[in-house]
Amino acid sequence: MTVIVTGGAGFIGSNFIFYLLKNHPDHKIVCLDKLTYAGNLSTLSSVLDRIVFEKADICDRKEVERIFEEQKPDVLVNFAAESHVDRSIEDPELFLKTNIIGTSVLMDACRKYGIKRFHQVGTDEVYGDLPLDRPDLFFTEETPLHTSSPYSSSKAAADLLVMAYHRTYGLPVSISRCSNNYGPYQFPEKLIPLMIANALADKALPVYGEGLNVRDWLYVEDHCKAIDLILQKGRVGEVYNIGGHNEMRNIDIVKLICKELGKPESLITFVKDRQGHDMRYAIDPRKIHSELGWLPETRFEDGIKKTIKWYLDNKEWWQEIVSGEYQSYYERMYAKR
Ligand code: NAD
Ligand code: DAU
Repeated sequence: MTVIVTGGAGFIGSNFIFYLLKNHPDHKIVCLDKLTYAGNLSTLSSVLDRIVFEKADICDRKEVERIFEEQKPDVLVNFAAESHVDRSIEDPELFLKTNIIGTSVLMDACRKYGIKRFHQVGTDEVYGDLPLDRPDLFFTEETPLHTSSPYSSSKAAADLLVMAYHRTYGLPVSISRCSNNYGPYQFPEKLIPLMIANALADKALPVYGEGLNVRDWLYVEDHCKAIDLILQKGRVGEVYNIGGHNEMRNIDIVKLICKELGKPESLITFVKDRQGHDMRYAIDPRKIHSELGWLPETRFEDGIKKTIKWYLDNKEWWQEIVSGEYQSYYERMYAKR
């Protein structure tokens, strides 16, 4: 079985490649990645001799077709995307190109060359947000799409296209919509790795607004396992929500990181809120549980400790990033706040 993993040099895609290598050593894995600022080939350095790596843009039809002709994939899992909400607020266009056009180019290649499954890695952000005073509400697969940011709108558009390719062309697709991931190799522009990196450098910890926004955190390996199950047993044409009922307020996460690292909470700095900031995400995972038997295995208390330890043990991985292009982004984004 040949699996193309797009965006495999990013956070979740790389963890998915490690998951496949461990659990399906017989699969041939082709990683297709443009290596944008968020893609890091060094993440895959320990497995590069076991996979095929293709540096390519998912929007580049010719290149995508060449890779299909050469590799003849059975399955494609699309992680490739512009994924950071704050960047989408700064510059929406790139998000529309990569996340929407890129997805359609990949699906066109699947139609032309044939595929057993096209799996789109989606996000719970397509459902918009839930109010803080209604803890009884959760996102189900039937919750209407109701997006807030250019990022989530581009991901919702991609999901709609995926379902349209299924209905119109009969493309064998599936979609998963997952909540916030954390774990090794997450780019330090996202909440958890950014706070770990800043705390270790005794820098300010920039919490947006009052830090009361709630996210439903899932350890990245649990997400990978869910996608693998959907590929094996999930129904074609279906959407599966993935989340572990682990809702936490941002401020509590940041305080926990301070505690684990022995840093003072006085580092916490409340900064200008994100525009259009979603209040609460909360997944109802009953469908994937009842149909596929998926349940998260890593408790947050353990996962966050493992993650912090990973960032402590792998400083060279993220310090290289922090000292590179990311530095100018950080100055731009946080100087204004
Ligand atoms: P990431 O930003 O860490 O990685 C994205 C990867 O895609 C990078 O390797 C990048 O180089 C690559 N890429 C970007 N544009 C490309 C292009 N045009 N062609 C080829 N490759 C390109 O993102 P992530 O956090 O790993 O997220 C992966 C996917 O999962 C995204 O689709 C995201 O929407 C979705 N998702 C993320 C989360 C989360 O909490 N991080 C939760 C749910 C869903
Ligand atoms: O819910 C799934 C989504 O989770 C994915 O689709 C996205 O790709 C992923 O980036 C993530 O989006 P969020 O916007 O929730 O993640 P982020 O880490 O950027 O922010 C998490 C929360 O922390 C959010 O409420 C904003 C807040 N925050 C973030 C940063 C970077 C801060 O308070 N300070 C910060 O510096």
